[in-house]
Amino acid sequence: MADNKNLQSVLTETRVFPPQPGFIEKARLNSDRLAALHAAAAADHVGFWADLAKKELGWQTPFTTALDDSQAPNYAWFTDGKLNASANCLDRHLDARGDKIAIRFEGEPGDLKNYTYRELHAEVCRTANALKSFGVGKGDRVVIYMPMVPEAVIAMQACARIGAIHSIVFGGFSSSSLKDRIEGAGAKLLITADGGHRAGHIVELKKAADEALAQGCDTIEKVLVLKRTGHDVGFDATRDVWWHEAVAAQPARCEPEWVESEHPLFLLYTSGSTGKPKGIQHSTGGYLLGATMSCQWVFDLRDDDVFWCTADVGWITGHSYVAYGPLANGATILMYEGAPTVPDAGRFWKICQEHGVTIFYTAPTAIRALMKLGDDWPKQYDLSKLRLLGSVGEPINPEAWMWFHTVIGKEKLPIVDTWWQTETGAIMIAPIPGAVPAKPGSCTKPLPGIAVEVVDEAGEILTSPDAGGYLVVTKPWPSMLRTVWGDNERYIKTYWGQFNNKYYVAGDSTHRDADGYYWILGRVDDVLNVSGHRLGTMEIESALVSHPQVAEAAVVGRPHEVKGESVFAFVICRGDRPIGAAAEKLTKELREHVGREIGALAKPDEIRFADNLPKTRSGKIMRRLLRSIAKGEEITQDISTLENPGIVAQLAGKE
Ligand code: PRX
Repeated sequence: MADNKNLQSVLTETRVFPPQPGFIEKARLNSDRLAALHAAAAADHVGFWADLAKKELGWQTPFTTALDDSQAPNYAWFTDGKLNASANCLDRHLDARGDKIAIRFEGEPGDLKNYTYRELHAEVCRTANALKSFGVGKGDRVVIYMPMVPEAVIAMQACARIGAIHSIVFGGFSSSSLKDRIEGAGAKLLITADGGHRAGHIVELKKAADEALAQGCDTIEKVLVLKRTGHDVGFDATRDVWWHEAVAAQPARCEPEWVESEHPLFLLYTSGSTGKPKGIQHSTGGYLLGATMSCQWVFDLRDDDVFWCTADVGWITGHSYVAYGPLANGATILMYEGAPTVPDAGRFWKICQEHGVTIFYTAPTAIRALMKLGDDWPKQYDLSKLRLLGSVGEPINPEAWMWFHTVIGKEKLPIVDTWWQTETGAIMIAPIPGAVPAKPGSCTKPLPGIAVEVVDEAGEILTSPDAGGYLVVTKPWPSMLRTVWGDNERYIKTYWGQFNNKYYVAGDSTHRDADGYYWILGRVDDVLNVSGHRLGTMEIESALVSHPQVAEAAVVGRPHEVKGESVFAFVICRGDRPIGAAAEKLTKELREHVGREIGALAKPDEIRFADNLPKTRSGKIMRRLLRSIAKGEEITQDISTLENPGIVAQLAGKE
């Protein structure tokens, strides 16, 4: 369970940063208003959410049932209501905010493009009409494999508008991962681009898409291709359609398809501890409510904000805090296509200055990387418009928090450390910036209407502040995942099985201090968090084993200064263990192989070859031991129960 060293380091953190009076004065929520929300949720959990759903979302048919728990743990919210996510994000704002900028875009090469709400609405309608012309309709799946450009959001909104279910595949995933996800979703349409700009290179999206389709994906009927980079790409005229040709001629009006609240808005594949990535299925009404409310509560989002969430739309953060939450609130978002260090390490800060960014939401790995580049970079830019900072994706170490606070926040901006997951749809635990004092390294307390606890192995709620345990959610919440696409049994087993369907089990361990603050310690399962990217050790192991020279592999995470965790692989080869130049050659080959199988983000940082893995007499691999070896720790664990204790020295690189 909890890693003791981790626990010790957070337990010794005692600094507290209360909200500044100037911020509290203007904030949507101060401590009184927050207390009133918590009291309302405590008095009537379901009624609390139902009232917000009525007030904050636009419904074509109002709902009368707030929560249907008859099929628990398959919960359904606002079941008999009908709405449309795109109408909520766009049409609702046309009267009051038609000329307001919805998206400010900057490409990596420096190109700029803005869309007002009216322009975005028209472009989404045109795209939706194009999708319809391909025969895509309600319930059909559309895979989106695009760079971080406005058309990615337009594609999502166009799907939502006609009731099609989008499933985005991050552009960093390989053709083989793309194929698996297309086939998993049974998608009819693929939307991609010729390429994207990243770190001075072109990401060959169309090439990867062609490779994926050449390997299978029989359900795909058409491929809609955005011209972004303009470089030469393959084009199959019987299947491929250029975006500019298909979309421009379409009418700029498209009636939204009114869907049931539970209608799936999207699927998003994410890694677990076993098997292939799971298609996490989110609903329309409940999801949108979570995304909407968390923007107001946690980011204090207001009409004059320029909100920059640096996440790619390929991850859940890009869904909830680029595409849906801010637009549902009528905000201005900033989208940036490329890497933070192109052409130099000041790029992020230059963007903040030039676009007048007021809210900046990023990941600890980015904060650590920018911190390493030195304070001189941010100091060259005017960051005075910033009023709130946010962090997501992994525990933020107090050192990175303090740098964010002092160098970027000039010791006065609130920092919201937000804990949540692909599965939770929206932020679950985070400080309310005008009400809850922050402690560096803690995501503080649950949001109103979110019931979380720490439990032990037996499912007993732990109340002692020193105890580490499983983080669980004890009551259903609107933006929760509905199921795993095509595998409801897996949904129940993975998230509810451990405690007899009583609690949603997040897969994280945590500890709660005497003030009720949560300190997330990390995953309890075999899921790695590499630069904020979630990867299953088993996926990487399967990728390694699919190489003809590999007989067996075990992958563990090793703490990494910038990435949070890095991938460390122990590999057993068929035939002799390679050494010297042969080992070097195979290491290179295996890294490339994993890059092809999954994506560059999963390439092992280190590979160690051995004759065997440490196994117990029942044949189980002792992963805890491998984690210690990867960290280079002195082995103090009892290895006498191993089938092959002699292997430990070799695994440790001592032979
Ligand atoms: O371990 C937790 C970590 O990221 C996991 C969820 O990953 P994913 O579904 O990819 O979503 C990431 C973005 C929401 C969690 O189980 N995690 C996320 N945010 C935090 C965090 N760990 C600590 N503190 C956080 N703020």
